[in-house]
Amino acid sequence: MARDVFSLDRDWLYGGRVVPGCTDPGFDDSGFERVTVPHTNRVLPWHGFDDEEYRFVSVYRRHFTPPEMPGDRRVFVDFEGVMTAATVTLNGEVLGEHRGGYTPFSFEISGRARPDEDNVLAVEVDSTEREDIPPFGGNVDYLTFGGIYREVSLRIVPATFVENVFAKPVDVMGEDPRVEVRCFLNSQDAPEGPLTLTADLRDGGRTIASASREVEPEGEGSAWDLVLDEFGPVELWDIVTPKLYEVVVRLHEGGERTDEYAVRVGFREARFTPGGFFLNGRRLKLRGLNRHQTYPYVGAAMPARVQRRDALILKNELKCNVARTSHYPQSRHFLDCCDEVGLLVFEEIPGWQHIGDEGWKDLACRDVEAMIRRDWNRPSIILWGVRINESQDDHDFYARTNGIAHAMDDSRQTSGVRYFFESELLEDVFGMNDFDPDFIAPPRHPLYLNTEFAGHMFPTKPIDNAERTQEHALRHARVHHMLGADDRFAGGIGWCAFDYNTHANFGSGDRICYHGVSDIFRIAKPAAGFYKSQCDPEEEVVLEPGFHWSIGDQSDYGGHGEGAIFSNCDRLVVYIADELQGELAPDRERFGNLPHPPFFFSALSGTAPWRRVWGDLRIDGYLGDRKVASRALSSKGVDGRFSVEPDDSGLLGDGIDATRVVLRVTDEFGSPRPFATGAVALEIEGPGEIVGENPFALFGGVGAVWVRTREGEGTISLRAKHPVLGTKSARIEVKAPPGDAVEVGSAAEKKCL
Ligand code: GAL
Repeated sequence: MARDVFSLDRDWLYGGRVVPGCTDPGFDDSGFERVTVPHTNRVLPWHGFDDEEYRFVSVYRRHFTPPEMPGDRRVFVDFEGVMTAATVTLNGEVLGEHRGGYTPFSFEISGRARPDEDNVLAVEVDSTEREDIPPFGGNVDYLTFGGIYREVSLRIVPATFVENVFAKPVDVMGEDPRVEVRCFLNSQDAPEGPLTLTADLRDGGRTIASASREVEPEGEGSAWDLVLDEFGPVELWDIVTPKLYEVVVRLHEGGERTDEYAVRVGFREARFTPGGFFLNGRRLKLRGLNRHQTYPYVGAAMPARVQRRDALILKNELKCNVARTSHYPQSRHFLDCCDEVGLLVFEEIPGWQHIGDEGWKDLACRDVEAMIRRDWNRPSIILWGVRINESQDDHDFYARTNGIAHAMDDSRQTSGVRYFFESELLEDVFGMNDFDPDFIAPPRHPLYLNTEFAGHMFPTKPIDNAERTQEHALRHARVHHMLGADDRFAGGIGWCAFDYNTHANFGSGDRICYHGVSDIFRIAKPAAGFYKSQCDPEEEVVLEPGFHWSIGDQSDYGGHGEGAIFSNCDRLVVYIADELQGELAPDRERFGNLPHPPFFFSALSGTAPWRRVWGDLRIDGYLGDRKVASRALSSKGVDGRFSVEPDDSGLLGDGIDATRVVLRVTDEFGSPRPFATGAVALEIEGPGEIVGENPFALFGGVGAVWVRTREGEGTISLRAKHPVLGTKSARIEVKAPPGDAVEVGSAAEKKCL
């Protein structure tokens, strides 16, 4: 009999603020709200709120009835993330407190969970900013929000079970690659006889290598090694072809299979060297963005599909090859998708500038361990970030964090992010937030990665004047150009992918840092067009104007002195009112180190020839002689179209699954109308509910809400009424989850309890 994992994501009862007795099993929770997790303790507006509102201690209760099981089975309750501290009680007995909102934790409840009768799990969730817990104690430029915001499961395992597996591909570029598999076993009592431990390497359903050995585990943490080899050359995991294999570890006792644990692996060699970063022996200039895992309205409490979508946006819309999980271990769903689509990741521990006392540092060291233990099989992860972002040096502390990372995983380099060059280097790679737009080349350290730039130096809202939104894009372009000048720069990770909620002492005064190349709804600003344009046209032909089409929205009336166009075409041909204005070549002089330098368009500058010609702008893009793209921007100044675009047309009716719905006003050609307004009234029918503001007032001509399913099936119909442009609808089909709940984006089956 193998393990059983039951999802505890549904049927939580949320009571808001704690009251005396609220964790007692007999407490009257009939007035509590029935919720699913991920859950936020307080739904908030997308900006302009007071973060004090979510900083309180709340209570969640979950009734459950475990199945009858043989006496030696062990039971655990697994929490994947509770913000920020959780005190967990089972049937009135306190199991313990976990401090820290970004790493998973478990409690063993064997012998305490009573089969076939009602059990009450109660969680007191402390979402205040406790200075004993990273990242708190000083200022933090992001909001953490609160609640049980990641999944919860009940796990029933045999007396001796597989606790974790680190399957490390070795010599992946050679003729005889192998996988060193370290199996961590947890044993309650020494088993009577030896057990057999096996590991299989699988490609799809096919086993291509196996190994086994006898083990005699004792105690809660013994490690046993197996080597999978002689399977010949493998398909490498790469950013273009992110091939994944599976390692399945099994335990047998007297011929009977007692446990199974599967992990995904990818064969890839990732190395930072004095000559730059190499993936599978090829130099790769890293071009990426930092990501916060938070969203409008519900903080980080978004389900798998939504967390995964960010990886898709970074990879497919922003064409990044790397992302940094600033500044904490992020959702496993986001990372799963990074593994699947080939997006490299720099993952780091929670923290922001402040280092606390010894107890705080112990928690940070525990976070290093928990992060690595959770994510060490992921081919996407190329660096462990083991320093508190932008903190001062602390030799002993960082010697310790580096030591832990290197001892646990000798296959990955470490890094740490600082903001001063004199900082002591204890990591392998010098991570530096170099916000100086005129930074110095060559790099001042041999293994050097620029981990942040742009950001607060030039906050930019979607509604900002065209000069600013374009300059925002060009600032990113300039830095990547400069990093491209010298192979010794590994590359750069700009600040940042998406606007994010922050404290009052940061940002634009409305609880937002408008530092994203996309807004908080993940909708592109012109700077997103720059990132997108850097891909190979074979992957996608890109033609993104860095401006909106207007005649007088610039300081030198007569406008568009220099309109930037971000494109990977060879040349662009520009027309106004169908009149040929000229042909443009990429600006190699100023941006020659970029794969695809921007184009600049100055047809309307100088002595105001706009007086002569004003009309629709059309830009045609060519690869060689072939016209491959065309974009039109209207001259009418009229809000032409209104659209309602869900990211997904099908969802799971589990009361958890969700998708974004983008509301957008464009001109008649589909190009942005950044000053379009209007309160959009939403109506929903069917098994779904709106997560967001209703009516929603467009900002920069765009905005979004999310639609979350209710438990059930059917069709969700969402009607959105714009005050001027009429009503548009979207339909989303909702399928009932299978009896045994399957998680979105994962093959793992979990039963519901
Ligand atoms: C950096 C910091 C980031 C963010 C950014 C804004 O100093 O590491 O978290 O605050 O500034 O540009």
